[in-house]
Amino acid sequence: MINLRDKRFQKLCKVSDLSPGNSKRFILDFADVALFNVDGEFYALDNVCPHQHTAIIYDGYFEDDCVVCPAHGWKFNLKTGLKPGGGRGLEKFELEIKDGIIYIEVKSRKAFSGW
Ligand code: FES
Repeated sequence: MINLRDKRFQKLCKVSDLSPGNSKRFILDFADVALFNVDGEFYALDNVCPHQHTAIIYDGYFEDDCVVCPAHGWKFNLKTGLKPGGGRGLEKFELEIKDGIIYIEVKSRKAFSGW
């Protein structure tokens, strides 16, 4: 665990664990996270699509600046987590890369609000 800018970060994986164009799911204590490598830039978003609460965002495909949910095509901006136009989106997690290791911002666990 490291502290940066008044935030806590925990180790996620090595940079070399995820090659460009790929994504990976991490089930952490505080969230189900989708990590993406888009041309060497890493992004982390909530893995659970708000449409039908399905944990498949990590399996989405890239289009423009977005990841597209493979179930029904909802799009989410990789940098913000928001839908195009700013609508209901996915939580975004900050990342830090140090010495070839990716660290993710630790957030409070979200309370499940039901369907
Ligand atoms: S579950 Fe993601 S768009 Fe329907």
